[in-house]
Amino acid sequence: MTFHLPDIETLSTDQILAILDKAQDYIDNGAKRTLEGKIIFNIFMEDSTRTRMSFEVAAKRLGADVVNFGAGASSLKKGETHADTFQTLNAYVPDAVVLRSSEYNAPRFAMTMFDAPVVNAGDSWRAHPTQSLLDALTLRQAKGKLDGVTVAICGDIAHSRVARSNYELLNRLGVSVRIIAPAMMMSKPTEFENAQRFENMDEGLSGVDCVMMLRIQKERMSEGFSGTDVDFFYDYGLTQERLQLCNKDVVVMHPGPMNRGVEIADDVADDPTKSLILKQVENGAWIRMAVLDYAINGA
Ligand code: NCD
Repeated sequence: MTFHLPDIETLSTDQILAILDKAQDYIDNGAKRTLEGKIIFNIFMEDSTRTRMSFEVAAKRLGADVVNFGAGASSLKKGETHADTFQTLNAYVPDAVVLRSSEYNAPRFAMTMFDAPVVNAGDSWRAHPTQSLLDALTLRQAKGKLDGVTVAICGDIAHSRVARSNYELLNRLGVSVRIIAPAMMMSKPTEFENAQRFENMDEGLSGVDCVMMLRIQKERMSEGFSGTDVDFFYDYGLTQERLQLCNKDVVVMHPGPMNRGVEIADDVADDPTKSLILKQVENGAWIRMAVLDYAINGA
């Protein structure tokens, strides 16, 4: 059966651990060119820096060739449907397909159109599985374990696919997850069921080992963002002062792109002892190597 990665929910805990371990093994021992002769389609229908670059770097480090598809320069602009576009691309017989889309559940639709494995590189506000895998790897490296660690995911939870996939994965691996957000950015009670919820940032930060900050996803707010960036920073911005409320060895994560001075202060983002933000970027390529190798070659 073809392996697809639409979301974390489709992975068993053993598969999650196998991917984390494979990525760590690449870091420790280097990688062989296990995807030599393979062709990977990178289909990005939404803007991206880190995810798009890292999937391409990952494929190339393993020896694969990458063909990039940008929606803006395609026949989608001429009125072609997604179904016809995917069927057309499938006729070129890729070995794997990486898909970023703002359409809800786009990867599951693509899975019915492609014969090759489909890897979700982020869809709508629903899921971003490879981001949560790289975040888990980064956190495990910093803390030496995941079980028993306390993580606060803060900011625009409601519109964040990163928050959803991270909650799913961290909760599965024994991390105690908190979500901190103003009411308009908090998720419905039917989601994040095991997470402790806080509206007050200072209360929520007390006693955490890791703070994950999120950008305000204004492009996903149908009514627009009614607050101001200045007010948001005052109430929820991560500052050195607020970090004092956390546990002593607290680490700071952010999936990027950051809006400095809105959700995070400059001296926190750039703090060499606490910020793991560039480590996340680095691990992004290793994790995507592990995922592509797993998708194409198996465990
Ligand atoms: C995020 C995304 O695109 O989902 N970034 C990323 O992939 N590293 C988060 C965001 O857009 O804010």
